[in-house]
Amino acid sequence: MAKFLVQKSGPLYGEVDISGSKNAVLPIMAASLLAGAECEIMGVPALKDVEVMCGLLRSVGSSVSEDYANNRIVISTPERVSDEAPYELVKKMRASILAMGPLLAKTGRVRIPLPGGCAIGLRPIDLHLKGLQALGAEITPKPGYVEAKAETLRGGNVYLDFPSVGATENIIMAAVLADGVSIIENAAEEPEIVNLANFLNKMGAKIKGVGTNTIKIEGVKELSGCKHSVIPDRIETGTFMIAAAITRGNLLIKNVLPNHVKPITAKLRECGVSVEYNDESILVRGDASPLRSTDIKTLPYPGFPTDVQPQFMALLTTMNGPSVIIETVFENRFMHVGELNRMGANIKIEGNNAILHGGRPLEGAKVICTDLRAGAALVLAGLAAEGTTEISEIYHIERGYSNFIEKFRKIGAAILKIDG
Ligand code: EPZ
Repeated sequence: MAKFLVQKSGPLYGEVDISGSKNAVLPIMAASLLAGAECEIMGVPALKDVEVMCGLLRSVGSSVSEDYANNRIVISTPERVSDEAPYELVKKMRASILAMGPLLAKTGRVRIPLPGGCAIGLRPIDLHLKGLQALGAEITPKPGYVEAKAETLRGGNVYLDFPSVGATENIIMAAVLADGVSIIENAAEEPEIVNLANFLNKMGAKIKGVGTNTIKIEGVKELSGCKHSVIPDRIETGTFMIAAAITRGNLLIKNVLPNHVKPITAKLRECGVSVEYNDESILVRGDASPLRSTDIKTLPYPGFPTDVQPQFMALLTTMNGPSVIIETVFENRFMHVGELNRMGANIKIEGNNAILHGGRPLEGAKVICTDLRAGAALVLAGLAAEGTTEISEIYHIERGYSNFIEKFRKIGAAILKIDG
């Protein structure tokens, strides 16, 4: 299995171009199933997860042309598609569940394997199903998969117990062709949902209130095709902001939407990191003043993003002083703690709190990626650690970051990918 060898590097210096958002492009690709004509999506990141979603769309009948050199894909979906998503694709990527709402809206029936859990949690889909039921779907759990049926979906109201990103997206995609008006309360407010709704409204949908906790969808008869751009990846942006901080470097991060990373900026500034916004770029300096520790608590947007918690924890190990990291979104998102401790970090877990005493220099070690963002955290820790850090199971990282090594090497990181 391939590995990364990471040497102590930096201060990192130079420019990074951020790619399109993984968590925006995946629901937008699923939503293209609803279009009666061709959809052209720009700003598409070259990711394994995007390839898996292309495979899923093809498996139900769409034709998909991928042009990663120009970061674009073109999807056209026939009137009649299969209502069944294949297990071998769904098990590869949890986000496959986002095909459920569109397939139900398009065909009146969907059979989808349960996506299953992953390292960071059980990842249930009860809120997705609660929302589809509110639109009139009949849900039948079967061993290992779930079936949803509805002759016609009708407008309905749902109050989400938790502002689930995926559930909000699935319900929107089912409601856009429903007969009547639907309201989602306690909806997720993430920017990726706004990007999805803008795509659907371009196709002729009538969605209002995205970006707030109450979303109103007025069902329409049909949706056309359209051209749409994916927003920059705010999690990749945060990852490189932290790369500048952890190596006490100086990075100009381009193709970003600064407003989407405000909680990360606020926390970095609390640590003494200099962060300056321009229109579509951010200048981050970890060398502006001595850095100090802080505490973080993850929350749904606009709170501090759970997808940047592991990376920020790696940064905090390089600061003097105690820190408390509270993870409120996932029940098991501390798998990277054991690996960071193998590098000499001093972190204890108490429930969903991690108590960290930073300041002792990290030492390179052999570590394992447990999930996408934990992997990014280990690379960042390796850049600061003395000696060499050997990171295995790096397929997790390559699922969600495009041209990961190339971007880091360009700004001075000593990272090598070895096979075997
Ligand atoms: C999306 O996952 C993202 N993935 C995740 O990014 C991100 O961490 C997460 O939102 C939170 O921001 C994509 O967009 C493809 P949720 P999603 O439903 O939709 C519980 C990454 O690293 N829940 O908001 O699956 C769930 O167990 C990935 O890029 C239910 O209980 O997240 C979790 O504790 C990781 N029932 C919490 O809600 C449900 O029906 C948040 O999950 C659904 C969710």
